[in-house]
Amino acid sequence: MKVIGILGSPRRDGNTEILLDRALAGAASAGAETEKIVLSESDISGCIECNDCYETGTCSIGDDMDHIYEELERADRIIIASPMFFMGLTSQAKAAIDRCQCYWALQYVLKEGFPRPEGSLPRYGMFIGTGGTKGLKLFDGTILTLKYFFDAIGATPREELYVLVRGVDDKGEVKSRDDALHSAFDSGKKLAELN
Ligand SMILES: Cc1cc2nc3c(=O)[nH]c(=O)nc-3n(C[C@H](O)[C@H](O)[C@H](O)COP(=O)(O)O)c2cc1C
Repeated sequence: MKVIGILGSPRRDGNTEILLDRALAGAASAGAETEKIVLSESDISGCIECNDCYETGTCSIGDDMDHIYEELERADRIIIASPMFFMGLTSQAKAAIDRCQCYWALQYVLKEGFPRPEGSLPRYGMFIGTGGTKGLKLFDGTILTLKYFFDAIGATPREELYVLVRGVDDKGEVKSRDDALHSAFDSGKKLAELN
């Protein structure tokens, strides 16, 4: 069982990373192998809409996304963690997601499934979102984006495990939110325990 956590926040040791680390600790407590990918320290271009992937099923850009593709293909469980920037994902997270258009093309243009070895575990996706405000609709647009992202990478979103934390703005403020820390650990553990 391999669980990867993709950090979309550009602020290291901020609220989102603290929660992601808790979720990965929860997954590890259930026996999973875990890995964290820090997008802000990777060189990832946006999708350039060349549509080469409609013919090849792979991305022709060639940057740090190559490593992330490998990790995505090996992972049984995928956690995306991002703060809300202007009511949506950070540019770092959105760039990586857009670059998964090659997996969308594999499935919907080339009619091949997501590349997984025979007998692999079912793939599930989880989201950790943070935001400074408390708006009810704060995560709505992102949850919709992630529904289609997880579909493109052959994973089922497990919305009951999403960790959505409103009202955290200062760096590290979430450390004082025991409910959020507990919920992140618990969701990560449950994610790794799913059959
Ligand atoms: C460019 C930018 C845009 C933001 N937009 C929003 C927003 O639309 N809604 C919101 O609730 N918080 C917004 N925030 C606040 C962050 O979501 C909040 O500070 C979050 O806790 C940051 O997480 P981090 O510590 O992991 O980076 C924004 C912050 C920045 C820097």
